[in-house]
Amino acid sequence: MGTLTAEFSGETVIVTGASSGIGRAVAVGFGEAGATVINADVRAEPKDRNADAAAEDTETPTHEVIADETDGRGLYVETDVSDVAEIESVVTAAREFGGVDVMVNNAGIHVNREFLDVTPAEYDRLHAVNARGAFFGTQLAARDMVERDAGGAIVNTASTTSGHAAREHSHYATTKGAVKMLTRSAALELAEHGIRVNAVAPGPIATEITEGWSERAADAVGGGREPPTRAGRPEDLLDAYRYLASEGADYVTGETLWVDGGSHI
Ligand SMILES: NC(=O)c1ccc[n+]([C@@H]2O[C@H](COP(=O)([O-])OP(=O)(O)OC[C@H]3O[C@@H](n4cnc5c(N)ncnc54)[C@H](O)[C@@H]3O)[C@@H](O)[C@H]2O)c1
Repeated sequence: MGTLTAEFSGETVIVTGASSGIGRAVAVGFGEAGATVINADVRAEPKDRNADAAAEDTETPTHEVIADETDGRGLYVETDVSDVAEIESVVTAAREFGGVDVMVNNAGIHVNREFLDVTPAEYDRLHAVNARGAFFGTQLAARDMVERDAGGAIVNTASTTSGHAAREHSHYATTKGAVKMLTRSAALELAEHGIRVNAVAPGPIATEITEGWSERAADAVGGGREPPTRAGRPEDLLDAYRYLASEGADYVTGETLWVDGGSHI
């Protein structure tokens, strides 16, 4: 089987939630495909970064160059996506590199909670990060694309819980349902500007977010059974993001692509 060749040279890609898990794999993958990657995360560095590398970076803690592991360039901007002003700063940072070509709204959080026990504070925080963060990430990136009359692609991280109920996920699933409808709604209004908006819906993937899940919750997300293939890894999602952001997907918009190893066939 062939591999995807670098097709994002000269493009600027913002990835939110890029410090670990899916976002990290996607950010490195766009870098490998030649893009300049702006990693926007509440953590201003990769989660798995070793202490020596951290020490080298003390002078520029929020702008880490990761070109050594990619063909492109990368920098970290400390960002909380629940704060619209901070998303705006990331878009401004992208302007230094010509503006946003691809926006990946991926930052997300989850806490397992039975429906009857979800508190208003937990509900609000999940919605502020997962749904509101993706909404204004899409809007602000799109404004930059429209102002420059440049077109572009936006790829959001939804979840299979955007379409299937899962135990201990009610407050989370409502954020991901919102991301799915954000994707369709924005796609409709942004098409005339040459901007495509799509989403990837991962099934259960082993990352920090799934650590400590109860077995019942993990089973429920997998549709009540193991994926018929194997357990998912962040790298399994990379080509879905790159495809949806690429010219090859020029006729694809408003779509949510499920990548779940067949858990929900
Ligand atoms: N792992 C799964 O099984 C799974 C399944 C479906 C969807 N998802 C979604 O994938 C996305 C990535 O999750 P992951 O599994 O890689 O988990 P993860 O915890 O490894 O990564 C999430 C990243 O988001 C960052 N983050 C958290 N709050 C933030 C904020 N307010 N602003 C900016 N960054 C913030 C974290 O620091 C972390 O780097 C999330 O949207 C999640 O909901 C994950």
